[in-house]
Amino acid sequence: MIKGFIFDLDGVITDTAEQHFEAWKKLADELGWIFDRKVNEKLRGVSRMASINIIKDHNKANVDEDTLFHLAEKKNNYYKEALKELSQDDFLPGAKELLIHLKREGFKVALGSSSKNAKTVLSQLQATPYFDAVADGNSTKRSKPEPDIFLFGAKALKLKPEECIVFEDAESGVDAAKKGGFHSVGIGPKGRVGHADVRFETMKEATLFAVKSSFKNLF
Ligand code: BG6
Ligand code: MG
Repeated sequence: MIKGFIFDLDGVITDTAEQHFEAWKKLADELGWIFDRKVNEKLRGVSRMASINIIKDHNKANVDEDTLFHLAEKKNNYYKEALKELSQDDFLPGAKELLIHLKREGFKVALGSSSKNAKTVLSQLQATPYFDAVADGNSTKRSKPEPDIFLFGAKALKLKPEECIVFEDAESGVDAAKKGGFHSVGIGPKGRVGHADVRFETMKEATLFAVKSSFKNLF
């Protein structure tokens, strides 16, 4: 029986993936590093430090841990600057409608994001009231593809994984949901989230009616 929903943030509730890309690109350009959309795809759902390690490895750069940390911090400052422009108009189409519908039907809702900026993003979107709990990059040591963030969210909702559906746009996020024993909805192309239990191309198609129809015996 489904009693709750856990949503990833970047790429599911809002498209901050673009601001992440711009901030990494700015940093990479300053360093003379190669960084394009193909490398950026590998960062979807992945923590900040794991992300900079991927970019560093792609450039075969030799950088010590301390410098890497400061570079990631620099990227984060660019990202936080961009977040100031985020507003309640920046929900991905369909996301706000689904959150409202879930509240109205009495489902419990948590955020399950790798981002340490998740609370700022929710606040900029004015989305905080739609969530009963927030699990983010500050909640657990291990990030996606490990299931810890989602398990933290489910525990905060006082629900078991099998009572929750996780919404994810990242390959690593769907992996995390499956590892944790959650039901999963993938948002995006087959090549990225085709391994989710159910997949929608965008959040617009992921109405509560469509979700209920896809998991018929669980409602
Ligand atoms: C995820 C994004 O939600 O958060 C990743 O998909 C990002 O691209 C990660 O690296 C960590 O974000 P932050 O805000 O903690 O740097
Ligand atoms: Mg995401």
